[in-house]
Parts: sequence; C-alpha cells; structure tokens
Amino acid sequence: RINLGETRPEVVKLGSGERPKDVDYSSPDRGTRVRVYGRVHRERKQAHVVFVTLRDGFGYMQCVLTGPLAKTFDAITLTRETSMMITGEMWEVPPGAHAPDNRELHADYFEVIGKAPGGDDAITNKVQAKGDAQTLLDQRHLVLRGETAASVMFVRDAVEHAFNTKFHELHYVKVSPPALVQTQVEGGSTLFEFDYYNEKAYLTQSSQLYLETALPFAGNCYCIEKSFRAEKSLTRRHLSEYTHVEAELDFIKFDDLLTHLEDIICGVIDITLSNPRMAKMIQDLNPSFEKPSRPFKRMRYSDAITWLNEHDIKNENDQPHEFGDDIAEAAERRMTDILAVPILLTHFPVAIKAFYMQKDAEDPRVTESVDVLMPGVGEIVGGSMRMDDYAELMEAYKRNGIGAEPYYWYTDQRRYGTSPHGGYGLGLERFLAWLCGQHTVRDTCFYPRYMGRCRP
Ligand code: 4AD
Repeated sequence: RINLGETRPEVVKLGSGERPKDVDYSSPDRGTRVRVYGRVHRERKQAHVVFVTLRDGFGYMQCVLTGPLAKTFDAITLTRETSMMITGEMWEVPPGAHAPDNRELHADYFEVIGKAPGGDDAITNKVQAKGDAQTLLDQRHLVLRGETAASVMFVRDAVEHAFNTKFHELHYVKVSPPALVQTQVEGGSTLFEFDYYNEKAYLTQSSQLYLETALPFAGNCYCIEKSFRAEKSLTRRHLSEYTHVEAELDFIKFDDLLTHLEDIICGVIDITLSNPRMAKMIQDLNPSFEKPSRPFKRMRYSDAITWLNEHDIKNENDQPHEFGDDIAEAAERRMTDILAVPILLTHFPVAIKAFYMQKDAEDPRVTESVDVLMPGVGEIVGGSMRMDDYAELMEAYKRNGIGAEPYYWYTDQRRYGTSPHGGYGLGLERFLAWLCGQHTVRDTCFYPRYMGRCRP
C-alpha cells in the first residue's frame, strides 16, 4: 500500500496544495503514508473511533484514530487546540462522507506534543461565538485560531501581496518612509506626540510627504506602512494604528489619478481572486461580494451636498447640508449604501481639506481631491493633487497655522524641479472590511489598536 517506494513517512502540509505527486487519490486501492503536524481544530469521539480535524495554517485534514489508538488515554482525553503529530495512510473519503479536500488520514501512530486545557479553560469556553466584543478582543490571540478570523488574516496577506504585485507591474518603486517624524500631515488633533531625545516628535499620520520626496529619484512610488492617529472617537472604521497603502504619481493631471485609483483597486481584486483559495475564502466571508465595474461613479462634492439634501439626510447638527460642511461618517455611509456602488467623490472645499492640496484652477473654492467610498464602509481612500508652487505652499502653511521650518525638505521639492503630481492613501483595514464583508476594521487587523485598547 505504500506509494512511490516510500518506507519512511513523509511530512505533508494539510491543505490541498501539497498532495504528493503521482498519487491517484481516486483509486480505491491507493493510500500514501504521511506524517502531519498541527493542532486539533475539532474532535469527535465515538465508541471505537476518534475523528480529529487537524489544522496547520496551510489547511485542514480529517484524521481517524481507530482500534487501540482510539482507546489510548491521550485519545480519550484529547482536547481542541492540542498540538500533535500523526502518521498514517491518506485515503479518499468514502462515498457520502465529507472531509476537507475529500480525504482522510487513517492513523497508525500519533503523539501529543502540547496538550490544551479542557473544562473551564477549554478554548470553546474562552472564545464563545456569542461572547461580547471586549472579551473577544481580550482573547484575540485565541480568536485568531477560528476559521473566520484566520480567513480574514489570509485574505489580508493575499491583498497586501496583490498590492505589491500590481504596483510592480506598473513599475512603481517601493520605499520605506520613517514612522518617527517631526511634521504633521493630516492636522494636529490626531497626532501622537512623544519625546524624542528631548525633542518633540510624532508617530507618522501618513507617509505622503516623504513619498513626494521620492518622486524625483524614483518616479512613481508607493509604500505600505503603518500610520498612527490619536482618534478620540470609537467608530467601526477608526483605528489608532492602521496599515496605509500610499502612492505618489509624477507628471499627472487629476483625471489620471482617478483612473489610476480604479486601476489599482480592480487590479488588486483580480489578482487576489485569481488565487482559488482566496476566492473561496472571500466567497465564504462575503457571499454577496461583487467585483466593481469600471468606470466608478464620479461625483463632485457639491453634487453630493445636493444629493444629501434631496434625500433628506441631515448634517451633524441635524440641519440640511450646506456647501462647506464636512460630510460626516453617518451621512457618507448612507449615501454610499443607497447608491450601492463605489464612488469617486471629488472637489472638496479648500477649508475642509489638508494644507497641501492643489486648488482647482477653474474653481479656487475647491481642491483637486478625491475620496473613494465603498458600500458598507464608506471612505477607503483619500487622495489629491499636491500644491506644486513654492509661494502657494508657503501661503498654505501660514493659512493653516503651520510653522514652515520643519517642512523645509518638503518645501524644497517645489524649489528643485517641481512637477504636477498627486497621490493617495488607502486604509488596508477598511479595504478588507469592504472585501471581506466585516462590520468593523477591528476585525481586519491582527491586533487592533484604538482608543482604550493597546493589548494584547
Ligand atoms: O484621508 P486620509 O487622512 O489621507 C491621508 O492621510 C493622505 N495624506 C494620504 C495620501 O494622500 N497619501 O487617510 C487616507 C485613508 C482613509 O481614506 C482611510 O481609509 C484610512 O486612510 N484611514 C484610517 N483607517 C483606519 N483608522 C483610521 N483612524 C484612519 N484614518 C484614515
């Protein structure tokens, strides 16, 4: 029964990708000897047989302990999350039975490597599906072992990989800007300040300003780094530490930026879905997910204000929206959910946007700025053309009460060969909340950080 002349058990990963070659699993008289390592994801004990679903990150495998093996102390007391090694023969499951990848391991030997507790401390008691959100967050290290949380982490890995792939297809250069900085990007109210060898410094809010300085040597460029915001509100889309996918594009017009945004978002989705394991996970996590069609809906801020008033959606003071209002999270999400398509919302007023944004040449009340809004989540991207004129930028610092001195290196970009350029930042956790149909960004990062939570 041993295939390929194997006399020593081989180690295989549990998922479908690593079946030893040249084994015909459909043939009834073929089995192959393997050795597997993993943790008990599920176990079911019957009179003469113990079914164990083993998990190793690569996949799951059903293992069957029978005969004397099923009567051993370790088998009888086997608990979920126990780590173990099993050797045996791998078989196709009998007709009518179900198991991951349609196969099961008939064990002839096993070893427990690390027992997990049962009783009150059993993982099923620590991490209950109906547990309250705070308890689940305290037990995040255990929650991550569950299928849903783990799937989101796998999709996250694939999406990050897809961004790198897509950017490299487009010949963008990846750089790694600093996290410890002395300049603000998105306003003083969300700065995390700290003492840096007796100097004032901050955790970066965005790598944008540094990315802009890469344009002259690298051309179009990007980074995937952490950004930090001292957000003082508890919402389902705000974190204190998040992963920021940012890019800068040189010698472009505003319209090029909008087209690029469609390109990168659709490209990343295509690359991610081309991996069958990811396609299946996204389907399981978010059955109603549909790839957006291009072009995305484009809407000017001023038209959004009209739209909100036509639909009787009020501003934060419960008044009709006026030009100049910040469109609050709730209103933005209602609009996005009703329109139910991705939206490129453009041309926000100067007064509500960051100091560095380029004004629209035809209407200086507004900026060449864009937010990408997704149903269910709202804003996932913020971007704009950047002011490229030296004098205008100096004026903008002044208007925003920002001392120009610490920004000398940023300002210098306008002195040493300026260019029309623009870029954007995409919140990876928000993108994933949309893609994976998750209610909150707290479930799309490894260990969420937000006001009041910095552990585990
Ligand atoms: O709109 P924001 O603040 O734009 C910038 O930081 C620009 N400097 C980026 C750039 O042009 N390079 O943030 C960009 C995106 C948001 O659309 C959102 O997806 C995400 O970053 N984001 C957050 N995600 C989670 N928690 C927070 N507190 C976030 N703040 C922003």
